[in-house]
Order: sequence, then C-alpha cells, then structure tokens
Amino acid sequence: MEAAGGEGDVAAELRQRLAAGGQDHVLRFWPELDGAARRALAAELCRMDVAEINRFFRRARGDGGGAAATAAAGLDARMEPVPRDVLGSASRDRGLVPRWESRGLAEIAASRVAALLLAGGQGTRLGVPYPKGMCDVGLPSRKTLFHLQAQRLRRLQQMAEEQHGTPCHIPWYIMTSGRTMESTKEFFQKHRYFGLKKENVIFFQQGMLPALGFDGKILLEEKGKIAMAPDGNGGLYRALGSHGIMDDMEQRGVRSVHVYCVDNILVKVADPRFIGFCLEKGADCGAKVVEKTNPTEPVGVVCRVDGVYQVVEYSEISLGTAQQRGPDGRLLFNAGNIANHYFTTAFLKDVVNIYEPQLQHHVAEKKIPHVDITTGQLVQPEKPNGIKMEKFVFDIFQFSKKFVVYEVLREDEFSPLKNADSQNGKDNPTTARHALMSLHHCWVLNAGGHFVDENGTRIPAIPRLKDANDLPVECEISPLVSYGGEGLEQLVKDREFRTPLIIDEDGIHELVNNGV
Ligand code: UTP
Repeated sequence: MEAAGGEGDVAAELRQRLAAGGQDHVLRFWPELDGAARRALAAELCRMDVAEINRFFRRARGDGGGAAATAAAGLDARMEPVPRDVLGSASRDRGLVPRWESRGLAEIAASRVAALLLAGGQGTRLGVPYPKGMCDVGLPSRKTLFHLQAQRLRRLQQMAEEQHGTPCHIPWYIMTSGRTMESTKEFFQKHRYFGLKKENVIFFQQGMLPALGFDGKILLEEKGKIAMAPDGNGGLYRALGSHGIMDDMEQRGVRSVHVYCVDNILVKVADPRFIGFCLEKGADCGAKVVEKTNPTEPVGVVCRVDGVYQVVEYSEISLGTAQQRGPDGRLLFNAGNIANHYFTTAFLKDVVNIYEPQLQHHVAEKKIPHVDITTGQLVQPEKPNGIKMEKFVFDIFQFSKKFVVYEVLREDEFSPLKNADSQNGKDNPTTARHALMSLHHCWVLNAGGHFVDENGTRIPAIPRLKDANDLPVECEISPLVSYGGEGLEQLVKDREFRTPLIIDEDGIHELVNNGV
C-alpha cells in the first residue's frame, strides 16, 4: 500500500487493514494531526505488517497451551555443562594458543575473516543521546569505542600482512538500527573511518518492532508516532538477508565471521586465536565465554539442554543448580556468555535462509512512555506497562552442527559498558576505563617495564586499590602499537615510566596531567 494518494483514501485503507488486526486505535488521533504528521504516520504504518506483529506477540507470549512455560519447566534437570572436548581455554590450554593464533592470522591474511558489530541497541541504561560506540569513557587518549575497535582491526591486518607478506583486509559489518544509523555513519565519515578503507566498512540496518501493551495493542509514543524499538540483536539474521549482506560476504570470499557487541571496551575484534581455534575444531558456530565464578552473578551460561546447545539465563535456573560444582571445584555451569561469537558464512546462510523464521521473540517487560489512548495524555509509567519483543543473537546455537566454546580471561577480554557512572558501580564508564588501563598496565609489566611515582619510587605491580574511587595505574597503549600485549619489549623493557603513560604510533608519552 502506498502512502501517496488522497489522505482520506489512505486513512480509510489503513484503518481497514489495522482494524482487521485489532490495531486501529493507533489512528485515534488522526483528526488532530497536521498534513506532515499524517504522512509520516501513514508511511510508518504502511511499512508495518500488522498480522505478523500479532503473530509474533502470540508466539512470544506462548499461546497455545503455554509452550514457553512447558519448555522452561524442569530446565535444571535437563541441563548439562559444556564437555571438555568442545572447550578451548586461553588459560588452561596455553600451549595450544600460538597454534590457534597463527591459524587465525593465516585466515585473516587470506582475507577470509570479517568482523560484525552489533550496534543497534538503544543504550537506555547508559542514557547518552548518541550511539554507544561514540562513547568516550575518559581514557587519556579520549578514544571512543568505535575508534578502539577500528584500530584493533588495522593492527590485525598489519600483523597478518607482516607474517604472510600479502595485503589483506577484514571487512567490518556494522549493524545499526533506525535510531542509530545516521549518527553512526556521520561519525565514521567525520573520522575518516579511523584509517580503514571506506569500502571495507559496511553499514546495515536492523528491523524495528512496535512496543506493545500487555494486551498486545501497539503503543503510541506521540499522537502521530508509533513507539518503535529495534527487534533485538538477534534481528541480525533477518537484517543479513534483507540487506544482501550474505551476498556481499560471499563476493568478498569471507568464510569466518566474528560477531560481537559494541559495548565491551576490551573486545578483541576478529580475535585470531578464537578464529584459529574454531577453524581447527571444524566448528560452524562458537561462543567465547568467561568463567562464571560466583553462582549469583547475573549472567547467562552456555550449556546443553536435552543435548542441544543454548544460553540459559540466570533467571531460568534455581540457586541450587547455579551453585553446583564439578570435581575441580569450579562451578559446573560456568561458561558465562559475553555475546561474542564465531560463525562460518555457510552456517549463517542456512540460518538466514532456513532457520530464522523459527526463532521466537523474547519478551522484555518495560516501562514504556506512551500516549493514553482515551485521554491523549502522555504517560510516564512507574512500573512496567508493556513489552518489547526481541530476538537474541545466541538463539541460533541450536542449529549448529559443530558447536565449540572458547574460554578467555575476563580481565583480558570483557568489560561491558551498560550503565551511567551515576547509576551504580558496575559496568559503567569508570569500570570500562579502569579495566582497559589495568590490562595495559599488566602488558607493560609483563614486557619488563616499571612504573614509578612522583618521587621516583617504584609503584608495586599490584597497586593497593582500597576502593572503587582509587585510580589504577594510568596507562594506555594504542591498538595500533599492540593488539593483545605483543611487541612491547623493545619499547618498555627495563625502563621506568611515570603516569599517565600513553604509548601510541608516535612513541611514548608520559603526560604531565590527565589531558592530551
Ligand atoms: P544490550 O542488550 O545491552 O542493550 O545490547 P543496549 O541497547 O546496549 O542497552 P540497554 O539495554 O538499552 O540499556 C547488547 C548488544 O546488542 C546490541 C547492542 O548495541 C549491544 O552491542 N543490540 C541490542 C543490537 O544490536 N540490537 C538490538 O536491538 C539490541
């Protein structure tokens, strides 16, 4: 249906279609709207498949005998931990890591690896008015998350080229949403793609779905505007198909894809060790995890349920199950999911073409500001009043024919940015900044460097941080200098540094204060 034509005709046609799906209340304020607002609303509604939305709602709510509830019942008893033979560990299998790394670098050198960034989230908890990737968490260099990730890709390309003597590139696919696309693109243009080739940075947009009341009725954000939200990071698979991304990957000869979240400041983009491990195992799907050490930590765990791999959310299992320990004393279900995945393009193609429609939306109950349909007043709810429907990126593990898990150390690879500094002490700009600086501090120490205070006295290797307000040793190493701690000896061995210390492609800078 076109939004063109007489406004009256359009409204009548729309009303009919919406009424058939029980959603014509969204036109309740049509008479009050001006021409532009009417055209915008009509265009939005024309793009919307109301029958499909109603179907999603019924399935997500577990219509037809509470299928979801039945599936969740007795989950604890049906769960099995990840067996050791599908698990690779960066710490426990240290001896194998160099082999995995060189296998991964060879694949990168052959331009067969792509990175895929999930950056379509709304970042409501962080609450900044721009995409999360544009966030500067206050590092000495003031680099943003996008900037760090781009430089890690550049460094990897350089490492692969040096080792194999052939030029290569890692295409970077960036999924945004209707809410983040324009500002993300502008940011990359403004920063000249952070030194990457423009043609190797590919943006595409995920789908959006309307927020619904508990009764399945579409909510209005304004009188002439539907409350829309991105359809979850698992919206990836539909978006890959609808934007021809799989074809693009095929044309470029990509065979392995590293999918990851925008908010992890430590993310090892296109990690050659992870990729090499998955290739060695002949896996079509892999999950990078960190060890869950506290039974009550709110993190989903990768495990098998009825023999099929999936992520089980912490809220779905009992405390008793969460507390179970194996013979080695570790938690039995300790494979903490960090939304960091490996897929072959062949597997992704099957997902896009065959399995995606089978994925069910998860329901998140939220406080959704909306226009009251009877009074026309804007309501800011104090408790959840409706739902957002989202698919999750890990929902496709169940379709894998050869699934593997790769365990890494949290302090090396995982520090997500979720909350604003003011909210609580967890996963915020301060914790992200500290995690990166602590890691880089360790890199310098491991490469034989030392830090001294203003009196020239050596700072202990493990600084005595008494509380969260104490600063770690301020040290930042550009990803262009070191991707994962490599290559620093020649720069730092047996040298003493004052902080803040920055090591970048222009050399070593010991800053006088925390500005640049
Ligand atoms: P989160 O679930 O943490 O959501 O996303 P968020 O949008 O960043 O933050 P809140 O919940 O609104 O505070 C985890 C990752 O998945 C991406 C995010 O961009 C982030 O990288 N994501 C999330 C999408 O790409 N699309 C979505 O629809 C949702």
